[in-house]
Amino acid sequence: MQEKKIPVIIDTDPGVDDAIAIMIAASSGKLDIKGITPVDGNVKYYHTFPNALRLVEFLKLDCPVAKGAETQLEKPCPTTASCHGKTGLGSVELPEPTTPYHEKRAWDFIYDTARDCGGELEIIAIGPLTNIAKLVLEHPDAKDYVKRIICMGGSTEEGNMTPYAEFNFWVDPAAAKVVFESGIPIVLAGLNVTLKTGISFRFIDQLCERAGASPYAKALKEFVSSYSDTHDNKEGEHASVVHDATAVMYAVDPEGCTTERCHIEIKVDEEQYGRSYPTYDDPSSYNTTVITDLDMRRYEQLYLNMMDYFNSFGE
Ligand code: RIB
Ligand code: CA
Repeated sequence: MQEKKIPVIIDTDPGVDDAIAIMIAASSGKLDIKGITPVDGNVKYYHTFPNALRLVEFLKLDCPVAKGAETQLEKPCPTTASCHGKTGLGSVELPEPTTPYHEKRAWDFIYDTARDCGGELEIIAIGPLTNIAKLVLEHPDAKDYVKRIICMGGSTEEGNMTPYAEFNFWVDPAAAKVVFESGIPIVLAGLNVTLKTGISFRFIDQLCERAGASPYAKALKEFVSSYSDTHDNKEGEHASVVHDATAVMYAVDPEGCTTERCHIEIKVDEEQYGRSYPTYDDPSSYNTTVITDLDMRRYEQLYLNMMDYFNSFGE
């Protein structure tokens, strides 16, 4: 009997690794994507919002896009992430979108969808947490309807914006603090796992060769070649760090991930601004399941499935 698909909303700041993560989510066969909610982050909202529409149309996703926050919860952050290129999708140029945005703003769309899903909705959050914080602040009973948040962000080790802070949490630490204090169960895909589990360029070349001339293989190759966030992975290979896909890996194949429980506190003081600080001494306080490792062959299988899925669309 076919397993029931998991209802999810993907909250995102597309973003090259966001785009690849959405491709994997769409092709996994495990997720029922109820919507995409873009947020200001990697690039400004006037790029992330239409990028979300472009991706939904390019990937033939049958789901709405509900506009999220155009600025951060308390302190606007003008910094963007240069590794995604000027428009946020690297060198990939997708047609101007024609689909209208959903009538509701992201936080209201997520709340209404969570209620419609009877408490089964999961949020895959792969950008700054501004939209999710606004969900919690504007709908105090959201925790009764959101099953869990699988979040790419933070780190239990080093940061990538400061020695302590990772980009998504550094852009909007006030929002991250609201979310981690909300009582909604959180699974964290932080830099401590994403930096060591990048996809090797060797594997990507194999993948794209096998995919042939499909526009999706071309897009994947261009996404990766124009995205400059690279790091040797735990197998010693030069790799593209597709941070956000790690959160999707947990959503579709949790058995392929290794985890530990802890309490995460989001720091907002000047020195540790945006730090996700883990403590382990009081199990009754644990609010987060941290992904500490993943099985690279099972992770690579998601990319293989993704290419096969999109190649079935033809050229
Ligand atoms: O630090 C990596 C995170 O910041 C990823 O979500 C990437 O897309 C950027 O948003
Ligand atoms: Ca992102």
